[in-house]
Amino acid sequence: MTTIGFLGAGKVARALATGWARAGHSIIVGTRRNEPPPWTKELNGVAGGTLEKAAQSAAVVVNALPGSAALEVVAGLESALSGKILIDVANAVDVNDMGFAVALRYAPTSLAEEIQAVLPSAFVVKTLNTMHESVMAAPNGLAFPPMAFLSGNEEAAKATVAGLLADLGWPAFNVIDLGDIRSARAPEAFILTVAPLVRALGPVAFALSVAR
Ligand SMILES: NC(=O)c1ccc[n+]([C@@H]2O[C@H](COP(=O)([O-])OP(=O)(O)OC[C@H]3O[C@@H](n4cnc5c(N)ncnc54)[C@H](OP(=O)(O)O)[C@@H]3O)[C@@H](O)[C@H]2O)c1
Repeated sequence: MTTIGFLGAGKVARALATGWARAGHSIIVGTRRNEPPPWTKELNGVAGGTLEKAAQSAAVVVNALPGSAALEVVAGLESALSGKILIDVANAVDVNDMGFAVALRYAPTSLAEEIQAVLPSAFVVKTLNTMHESVMAAPNGLAFPPMAFLSGNEEAAKATVAGLLADLGWPAFNVIDLGDIRSARAPEAFILTVAPLVRALGPVAFALSVAR
């Protein structure tokens, strides 16, 4: 059993916290107002607290913040996140008037690399940003199997995250280690395909996959 902290309590935090709580992990959901949303009360093993408390109490912390806010927030939590695995699921983009991504905020680097740079003592692992939140903890629900990608500098941290993905139902074959944190540039760029895909497919859940 791992204690998993969340920075942010939105749609992604809810999907992942629900999946990991059901798998037996202990969850602490951190919010800026220290007011956990109602969904946390519906789950066993889920507590609420401040962002700092979520970062401090957990062995593994999830960045489930908007990409526009993530870097500043995690930088302010540097000492609480020291030595922790930080799972980064965020996409940092400029959006059009429909709310769709039109440019990558940190290109030519990536949000994950920028986070690793401001948190040199944390182990940042990028994953799960290439899919709708409904797929993250339910990878068997699509007509074609999705893939999850891992980018990070520490092999042990990526192995821990791969184990947590397995707890959500991800088969090992569908989890691809892309390499060190610089490889996060590729999955982060997937967000630029979301607007044209929604135009083409309509409002359906989808995820990046690699046929082989
Ligand atoms: N939704 C998806 O399908 C999906 C898929 C892949 C990746 N992602 C990425 O995952 C991240 C989370 O997405 P989401 O859909 O869960 O977003 P969301 O529902 O909007 O939730 C964002 C959470 O972050 C909090 N937050 C916002 N600004 C903050 C700040 N400055 N300081 C502290 N907390 C702040 C919000 O709290 P308040 O209530 O206080 O504002 C809210 O709890 C984003 O980076 C997104 O790009 C989302």
